[in-house]
Amino acid sequence: MIVPGASSQALAAALARAIDEPLAAVEYDRFPDGETLAAVPDFDDDRAIIVATTDSNDAWVELLQLQDAVREAGATEVVTVIPYMGYARQDKAFEDGHPVSARAMAQAVSTGADRVVLVNPHEDDISSFFDGHVTIVDAAANLADPLPDDLDDPLFLSPDAGAIDLAESVCDAYGRGDVDYFEKVRHSGTDVEITPSDADATDRDVVIVDDIIATGSTVSQAVTHLNSDGARNVFAACVHPLLVRNARTKLERAGIEQIVGTDTVERDVSIVSVAPSVAAAVEAVTQ
Ligand code: R5P
Repeated sequence: MIVPGASSQALAAALARAIDEPLAAVEYDRFPDGETLAAVPDFDDDRAIIVATTDSNDAWVELLQLQDAVREAGATEVVTVIPYMGYARQDKAFEDGHPVSARAMAQAVSTGADRVVLVNPHEDDISSFFDGHVTIVDAAANLADPLPDDLDDPLFLSPDAGAIDLAESVCDAYGRGDVDYFEKVRHSGTDVEITPSDADATDRDVVIVDDIIATGSTVSQAVTHLNSDGARNVFAACVHPLLVRNARTKLERAGIEQIVGTDTVERDVSIVSVAPSVAAAVEAVTQ
């Protein structure tokens, strides 16, 4: 049975259809002291495939509860799909006394999962923090699908050197265009400094490709630079459209033409489904 986390109900339903598995009912509750409860009253299967984006602390707790609840209900195999893994950006101790939060979360999940499937985690190395088998799904190429066919002399840009593979994947899938990257220095969670790339954006359609748009600071700065350089239209394509706080307003004010994201995070811009790629990964690990 497919077991949906609260943040991944549409994706879980799409996955259930894709692999022809029943969708379990999940009941979510909250006690007066703030504790959450996620329960699976009708779960009845040997294998549970939990699909839960962990975009909040509640979502993390809920995932651990679902893993435990399906075992209580008789599951002997638990496959945990984490479409967007929160805390993955805290993949090292950045200052003395800091935790490696991604490791702490991965270890907690490992206590209840036999196998884990991640979609474009912030760094692939995160898979080593889990105890069991981890499959990584790369959904970046699918972001080319909704882009207009007639982009003019397209330029695919990542906001930093680390994300250039994503830009290359989207460019390859689109079929034509150049790839380059900005230099980025992050001063805080919301303060980033972007230095324009070498590529000339004048009169070109530009697609900024990143794994996550969170506060929108990174992409909105890039859009501002590109528009002042005379770019034609600037699009943003990201795997995980978190779009927290005033990200939408920042991007709109910077002059973005369109934001394209996947359903690892369910927002109105999540027009690309990762369900087929996740289905293939789940079927491969459960044969
Ligand atoms: C960072 O390395 C990521 O790839 C994204 O660039 C970052 O998470 C975007 O964050 P924000 O939208 O808050 O600038």
